[in-house]
This record gives sequence, structure tokens and C-alpha cells, in this order.
Amino acid sequence: MADKLIIFDTTLRDGEQSPGASMTKDEKVRIARQLERLKVDVIEAGFAAASQGDFESIKAISLAVREPIICSLSRANDRDISRAAEALAGAERKRIHTFIATSPLHMEMKLRMSPDQVLEQAIQAVRFARSFTDDVEFSPEDASRSDIDFLCRVIEAVIKEGATTINFADTVGYGVPELYGNTLKTLRERIPNSDKVVWSVHCHNDLGMAVANSLAGVMIGGARQVECTINGLGERAGNTALEEIVMAVRTRKDYFNLDFGIDTTQIVATSKLVSQITGFAVQPNKAVVGANAFAHASGIHQDGILKARDTYEIMRAEDVGWAANKIVLGKLSGRNAFKQRLQELGIALESEAEVNAAFTRFKELADKKSEIFDEDIMSLVSDEAHSHDNEYYRYVSLAQHSETGERPSAKVVFAIDGVEATCQGNGNGPVDAIVNAIESKTQSGSELLLFSVNAITTGTQSQGEVTMRLSKAGRIVNGVGADPDIVVASAKAYLSALNKLHSKIEKLNPQL
Ligand code: KIV
Ligand code: ZN
Repeated sequence: MADKLIIFDTTLRDGEQSPGASMTKDEKVRIARQLERLKVDVIEAGFAAASQGDFESIKAISLAVREPIICSLSRANDRDISRAAEALAGAERKRIHTFIATSPLHMEMKLRMSPDQVLEQAIQAVRFARSFTDDVEFSPEDASRSDIDFLCRVIEAVIKEGATTINFADTVGYGVPELYGNTLKTLRERIPNSDKVVWSVHCHNDLGMAVANSLAGVMIGGARQVECTINGLGERAGNTALEEIVMAVRTRKDYFNLDFGIDTTQIVATSKLVSQITGFAVQPNKAVVGANAFAHASGIHQDGILKARDTYEIMRAEDVGWAANKIVLGKLSGRNAFKQRLQELGIALESEAEVNAAFTRFKELADKKSEIFDEDIMSLVSDEAHSHDNEYYRYVSLAQHSETGERPSAKVVFAIDGVEATCQGNGNGPVDAIVNAIESKTQSGSELLLFSVNAITTGTQSQGEVTMRLSKAGRIVNGVGADPDIVVASAKAYLSALNKLHSKIEKLNPQL
């Protein structure tokens, strides 16, 4: 019988460490519910001690999601571990994931601890975590740059203390596949109690090898858990992409001979949800979930596909959830049909008042756009969630004028803490004009790092989804806005980013 590969999703923890990808509690719960539908085995829901927001999100996810194991990260100290245990208290199945750096560089320069002190702290941490749950994961951080003898000492000791999963972390994406896999193999061979635990891989993509390293860790090293994120989201160049691991293992079952529990038909929906909520667009040529991943442009390929699909297709688009855009609702659809579609999409709004508010927005949209697709509904609910969470600034309306030979101008009306304000501005283009108009009132002094527009569905009728990334005093946030009018979408995105800056969410980065 084939072994099972455990899929450990860390989109809500390591993925969220991408600059600007921070999510609200409600957004995290929505993603966690979708991850449950995708049937991941473990959801790393956050890092409880990092911020009150993370703590609350883990708590909410523990209650809302019952099938997967819910996990919290914690540094190797009592406070972090207690906080993780507290946040996870309501979970059906919980895991505490504790870590400490083991590389000479990290121990000396970051922790300022001797190897013996690190060893002792790792032992204490695992012992303490075991007093809350019998599912404890230990990660030697920066393991791929650690001394192998020292790693063997630390890992043997934490297994004796009751760690049940050992995660071989390639924290800075330094690994190369064969070496990474072989080091893991050596560890398993040299550590006498290595057979008592599940071995896990956790790779970063700094050299573009996170997926290859993870798969080498599985095939050469014998790992049976892969830590990954949707769309490869994560700090710097990101983490191992879940969809690539899953589809590689499935498509090349002849080679990997592994099973997993993932429902692959949920992959695209999950990818879109994460992209929509974080504002991180998926590149068109991204494997599995990119818009072009299954598009065949050349005549020879198209001809081959028509004669026999497998001439140029190694996976079927429908197996990962790509379906032709479906018109699901329209202007005449009623509240019940809308509510039912929300349910089918797995969107659970907390109260009837929220359903009503979302329905009102749906009707507004249906007035502007005759065909409403699933993507529109998802984006509309995201907009709704943004406006509820941090509604210091709220878009009301705008007028904008552009004409050849004239400098574009804009008038924007928005509420500041409930009080409506009107402002005017002009600029090089319509978007510049609305940003200048808004800034004339808010004077945020932030810097615009990124402005991107994506069509949510196909055709010129599509809503434009705009992402604006702002930076201020070392904080980076993403705002997202959607509307059939991309200038309006831009104003919404800008205000959404300002709201995030205003909310002052602070969190610790575990790798600092
Ligand atoms: O990359 C890393 O080392 C991590 C650990 C905290 C597991 O994310
Ligand atoms: Zn990581």
C-alpha cells in the first residue's frame, strides 16, 4: 500500500508573513474553511504569541474548522507555548509547533545563545508543549545550514521528550534538492529514535527550488509531511506551493507512489480565494493555478489536443477545478438564490445583517453588470469583509473626468470615521487624480509601492480588481478593491490600504 503524504498548509502563518499579505480574522476563517474543503491534513492557523489578532484568528479557526488538525507556531519558550495552547483550546484536534534556530549563525548572531543552551531550551519547550497536547512538532530553524552532529543531538533529545513531528526547515531557501534530501536521509539514519516521528519538509523558494527540495526531501529523505502554502505565498520568494506538490505527486504517482487526502478539484477555488484576499495576483504562467496553465496557443499543440488530449496535457484542467466561467446569478436573482450560492461557495457570513449587506452590494453590482460569476460574488464578499473590519475610511462615490489634451481630474466622496468628506485632485492619469484627491484629505504620507489591475472574469464587462500596496514607517499593506469601473476600484483599493495602515496591526516575525 502507498504511504500517505501529510499536507500541512501554512498559508495563514508563513504565507501571511509576505509583506502586505496580512489578513483579518474573518478573512482567515474564510480561507481556513476553504482549506478544510480542500481537505488539507493540518492548518497552521497562525502564531498565537505574535499578536492579539493572530491569537483571535487561531481561536476562531479552532472553533470553525473541525476536520483538519489546527496548529499554532510558537517559539521555544513557555509564554509562546501557553499562548498557543490557549488559542487552540477549542480545536477538535490541535498541534503545537515549536521552533528554535540551530545554525551557528542564528545561534550566535540572533539568539546569542550557546549550542548547549539551545539544546536545553528545545528540550524544555517540547516537554512543556506535551503538557498541553500529544501532537507536538519541533522545527530546528535554519536546519539546512546547521551542523549535522548538533542537529542529531537536538532532534534525538526532543524526540525523547515526546515530539511527534520533526520538520527539517530550509528557512532561507539555501538547499539544493539532492543535498537537502540526502541530509534528511542521514539524519533519519543516524538518529536512533528517528522512527518514532513523522519527518517533515519546509522549504523556502529563494533559489526557485522550494518544490524540488521538498520532493527530494520526500523521495530521498523519506519525509511524509510537506509544509506548503497556496500559490507558494510566503516571505521573500515564498514557500513551497501546495498545488505544485499535490499535482506532481498525483500526476507522477508512477514515481512517487504516495497517496494524499487532498480534493484536487478545490485547488483553483482556493488559489483564487487566497489571491483575492491577499491582493497577491497569480502570475499567468504559474503552474497549475496560473490563467495560462492549461491554455494551448500554438497551432500544433491545439491540433494535437483536439486529436488526443494527452498529446500535450499531463493533467486535466477540470481535475484542479478549472471550469468555464459560469453565469450564476443575475439582476433578477433573489435573496434566497444569493444566499444559497454563498453557501455553495462555502462563504459563511456571520449574521443575517451581513447577508443583507452583501445582497445589497450584489444588487448594486447586478445593476451595472448583467452577468454575475462566482468570482464576482467572492470579490463582493471580500469587499464587504474589508469594509466591516477596519472601516475608518469608507468609499462613497466619485466623479472623474478625462479628455484628450486635458489633465485628468477627480472628485471623491468618502467617509472618515463616519463623517463624509469631499475632495478634489488632478493628476497624470485618472488613478493618479483620485489618489491625489484622497491624499489631499488624509495626508497619509504613505508611499505607493504597487498598483495592479486584474480582470476578475473574462470580457470587457468584467469587474476590475485593483491592488494597491502602500508602505509607511516600515509597514507594508495591501488594499484590494473591485468594481466594473477600474477607477472606482482604484479608489476603493486605496482606501482599503489606508484602513489597514490605520488599523496598526502589529505582529512579530518569528524569523527575526
Ligand atoms: O522557515 C522557517 O524556518 C519557519 C519555521 C518557523 C518553521 O517558518
Ligand atoms: Zn518558513
